[in-house]
Amino acid sequence: MNDAGSPALTKAEWKQVGLGKAHESARLHVLGQADYTDDIAEVRGTLHAALGLSGKAHARILDIDFTDVLASRGVRAVLTAKDIPGTNDCGPIIHDDPILADGLVQYIGQPIFVVVADSHDLARRAAKKAKVSYEELPAILTPQAARAAGSYVLPPMRLTRGDAETAFERAPLRVKGELYVGGQEQFYLEGQISYAIPQENDGMLVLCSTQHPSEMQHVVAHALGLHSHNVVVECRRMGGGFGGKESQSALWAAAASIAAKRLGRAVKLRADRDDDMMVTGKRHCFHYLYEVGYDDAGRILAAKVDMVSRAGYSADLSGPVATRAICHFDNTYYLSDCDIRAVAGKTNTQSNTAFRGFGGPQGAIAIEYIIDEIARNLGKDALDIRKLNFYDKIDRNVTPYGQPVVDNVIHELVGELEQTSEYRARRQAIQAYNATSPVLKKGLALTPVKFGIAFNVTHLNQAGALVHVYVDGSILVNHGGTEMGQGVNTKVMQVVAHELGVDLTRVRIAATNTSKVANTSATAASTGADLNGKAAQDAARQIRDRLAAFAAKQYGGAVEDVRFVADTVFANGHEVPFGELVAKAYLSRVQLWSDGFYATPNLHWDPKTMTGNPFFYFAYGAAVAEVVIDTLTGEWKLLRADALYDAGNSLNPAIDIGQVEGAFIQGMGWLTTEELWWNAQGKLMTHAPSTYKIPGVSDCPDAFTVKLFNNRNVADSIHRSKAVGEPPLLLPFSVFLALRDAISAVGDHKVNPPLRAPATSEAILDAVSFVEQAVREKAA
Ligand code: MTE
Ligand code: MOS
Repeated sequence: MNDAGSPALTKAEWKQVGLGKAHESARLHVLGQADYTDDIAEVRGTLHAALGLSGKAHARILDIDFTDVLASRGVRAVLTAKDIPGTNDCGPIIHDDPILADGLVQYIGQPIFVVVADSHDLARRAAKKAKVSYEELPAILTPQAARAAGSYVLPPMRLTRGDAETAFERAPLRVKGELYVGGQEQFYLEGQISYAIPQENDGMLVLCSTQHPSEMQHVVAHALGLHSHNVVVECRRMGGGFGGKESQSALWAAAASIAAKRLGRAVKLRADRDDDMMVTGKRHCFHYLYEVGYDDAGRILAAKVDMVSRAGYSADLSGPVATRAICHFDNTYYLSDCDIRAVAGKTNTQSNTAFRGFGGPQGAIAIEYIIDEIARNLGKDALDIRKLNFYDKIDRNVTPYGQPVVDNVIHELVGELEQTSEYRARRQAIQAYNATSPVLKKGLALTPVKFGIAFNVTHLNQAGALVHVYVDGSILVNHGGTEMGQGVNTKVMQVVAHELGVDLTRVRIAATNTSKVANTSATAASTGADLNGKAAQDAARQIRDRLAAFAAKQYGGAVEDVRFVADTVFANGHEVPFGELVAKAYLSRVQLWSDGFYATPNLHWDPKTMTGNPFFYFAYGAAVAEVVIDTLTGEWKLLRADALYDAGNSLNPAIDIGQVEGAFIQGMGWLTTEELWWNAQGKLMTHAPSTYKIPGVSDCPDAFTVKLFNNRNVADSIHRSKAVGEPPLLLPFSVFLALRDAISAVGDHKVNPPLRAPATSEAILDAVSFVEQAVREKAA
């Protein structure tokens, strides 16, 4: 188990954190040996379920004829809402989310019944044979229509600071406009799946692809009319979650469990891709109305924004998403006098949910779009307007929600990126290129990111862990986080290995299981490694302290002088292999396992006034993108991207760089090619990769440089690292605004092109036409 490389290091240098260790399952991923829920060996007599979905956006169900379903080969049962023994609800916060529609359907794709059959295929085929008769009701299909109708899933939210009205009156200049930014499908490669296996005495084991095992436990217990202690939820890993398995794994866990309970058999419910996309919620699309007052230099004096999101038919996480959007409208800018409003529009579409960034990207993109406009109106480089409005370090450093920005590195970070990306020289080169290129136009943009880390809801910022050191010196860790590819298990392993001074190969992470660590929060809000790393460190530290006390007793010397380094324990001149000390400690009846707990300090939030200290710290970043567009076809290409991200004192730079790269490309997909499109009846027509275009390898730029900014967290985070999961998703704002820059080159940067997201070729052509028309009008 000894790491051959370690002994060469001195005690002071030895560490297991801060190293670019490979993802703990990388080998298994590559060899196809990593178990996802569907790979886990099935128990005897397992049955398979499929969901029957609504064909109407809003309707009363008059009658369902299951004759043909029940006559289908292999069908064992059909279950509807009335077969649910407990509560028919899987809403995470507000209980407006039926597991199975009961008399009323509210979107095309809403589950109405569960078919259980001998195979997945037979269940799916049979589910299509139900004859549902409906009485149709009027449907609301867009967020704008929801706003017009005053149809919301939650009361409107508002955050104000200063006096926006008076500030507007004083402002010499203004921009006013609207923006539409589309939603996004999570497109985890492994779809939603749950496998429910009945246990003795009213127990239920649910193997589930979920970011939130504890929430699944609650939902299943409620649906079955049982207690939490009856239900065990386990997740080995997910093939991606991206927020889509934070709350919305619940439907699948509940439906599989209801069927398993009813039939007394193990039941697996695995969503086919089309069903997954028809049923589950996505990133919220947003529509914005904005007005900003500024001075001749480009400094923002007053800002007003009114956002409406597409919540879908139920609340799900739309409230917290809107809160995060409001708390990220400022991005890296000081807004002295502002009025920020958000409503979550109730629409007859899928109930939208968490997606990497959780409303943060939707909040921040608006201000970036606005600043882009201010710059063009003043004939200045947008980077200079951005810098002018950055939070300062002393004054002008309090966010609209009242949290002081005490860890601001945006000036240094952007300064560094401006240099390394050769921003100014490239700006000139692009200007020269565009002057002689009538059809192809290039564009460039640098956009910054500031992202708040912690759950806005204070009590969610807690975590637990359980660390076992076995007599042979091997270590098993349970923690409350879930692995979805982001590397939380690798980071937690590193933290535990570092704490106990052992090689990483000694440590193994068990599947996340609600019977091991209780009352966990979702692995979300980018806090997985922050929270679970600290909890595991706490557990490991307790074991180390006990071992140190034991070593001091054995070998003499002070407890404080015992060192755990490179798989060896150094005590009073003795060098004892870790495994040997552990074996001795066991014989002396020393407790070799421990729990651990962590609660993030100094957080508070008042949802009524929308003020407080919701975040433990901020993560920062910036990116520069250069694009070329074809003004005749709307085709475009990302030529080069440079990103610089502040992961603090990174726990694992290899994983963190991977997270930044992945988030950048995923965010670029959101803003460019991924278009959700519902037809006039409210049916999502882009429900498979054939019609919904996520970025591919060939969409990655040839020149793509991602670096980590040299920093240390001011807050006492785990080894002074910073979260990395979500914030880099905002970096490709640079791609979107580089496209807008290229489009505006058509009118020599005199006209602000209205560009919607995703900036598909169609959207780019619309914007080009707008500019050409405006130029013609000016000339006439
Ligand atoms: N990376 C991979 N590979 N797969 C994922 O599903 N989810 C993202 C991000 N990175 C995701 C990912 C989201 S939405 C979040 S909130 C964080 O990872 C969660 O993990 P962390 O808190 O441990 O960083
Ligand atoms: Mo991430 S959207 O917080 O799961």
